[in-house]
Amino acid sequence: APRVFSGIQPTADSFHLGNYLGALRQWVALQDSHDAFYCVVDLHAITVEHDPALLRHRSRVSAAQLLAMGIDQERSTLFVQSQVPEHAELAWVLGCLTGFGEAGRMTQFKDKSAKQGTSATTVGLFTYPVLMASDILLYTPEPGAGARLEVPVGEDQRQHLELTRTLAQRFNHRFGDTFVLPDGYIPKTAAKITDLQEPTVKMSKSASSPQGIVDLLEEPGPLRKKIMRAVTDTGTEVRYDEAEKPGVTNLMRIFAALDGTTPDAIEARYAGSGYGQFKKDLAAIVVDALTPIRERTQALLADEDELDKLLARGAERASAVASRTMEIVRDRVGFVGRGR
Ligand code: TYM
Repeated sequence: APRVFSGIQPTADSFHLGNYLGALRQWVALQDSHDAFYCVVDLHAITVEHDPALLRHRSRVSAAQLLAMGIDQERSTLFVQSQVPEHAELAWVLGCLTGFGEAGRMTQFKDKSAKQGTSATTVGLFTYPVLMASDILLYTPEPGAGARLEVPVGEDQRQHLELTRTLAQRFNHRFGDTFVLPDGYIPKTAAKITDLQEPTVKMSKSASSPQGIVDLLEEPGPLRKKIMRAVTDTGTEVRYDEAEKPGVTNLMRIFAALDGTTPDAIEARYAGSGYGQFKKDLAAIVVDALTPIRERTQALLADEDELDKLLARGAERASAVASRTMEIVRDRVGFVGRGR
């Protein structure tokens, strides 16, 4: 089966609807057809200032949400990045193949560092995409005919994936064929879910206001209110039009993704009926989709020891693959082996 790898940062107490529709739903779907590795990337989460107790808590809440939405430790491998030290080790090697200017062109780095100012911007934030490349490439299948490595992510990770391919190619060229070049697996309509209050910018834990963001763990009451208060556009027509109607278009994307329908079908269904009924129905669909995830997450968090054990099992399986890849890398780069 083709490999799949993806990761998510434990930077908030809840994932949001953009994470879910842009990436996490695909994680769940791919675990039957793929040899899947899914990672809570806590090393990435310390590239900005953080609180240690909160980070540990959020890593567990993240893992619990992934299990709650259907990631199954029997059908895929779910683990916490810091439990597999090879991620940081490969990042060093790949960092030595990355141009300073090349890393400086990453738009997410430019945005985040501009917001923070140079004195608060860390070297870790700068090399963040190199760590992401190492996450993915550690789980490379053996190169050869038909070998595939797929990475389900939202649109905002496209540039980082491109860099990952570049670094894989560069390594292969210098040291011999080692890595399969990864392919993005980016959904068509839900690749970029936007802020409910500011529908031209992406929904984001760091940038969105609470009113603009739909948390997966939100209670039904506030959830309904947020959807009803989402910014819509002038006019009354439910029409899919990114340029003229970014607010309604975003809501239609959410509707289509959760209800398994298309923007065309939604337009037909609400022709002549205005925004009100559309939003009411959407609120019901969102509540129905998120309620079981919230309830299962809470149940999983009630037994922390059990959760930690489950994650340790994932780390063991991930380590088996990561250590094999790293052995090959060390040898090809020219490090002296310890012998046996
Ligand atoms: P992160 O933690 O910011 O987001 C996790 C996933 O959610 C997607 N996403 C969105 N999709 C659609 N609309 C949105 N508004 C939206 N916001 C977020 C992201 O594209 C992502 O797929 N660098 C990564 C984490 C990472 C990773 C990896 C991913 C580290 N190593 C290796 C894949 C493979 C990140 O910050 O995602």
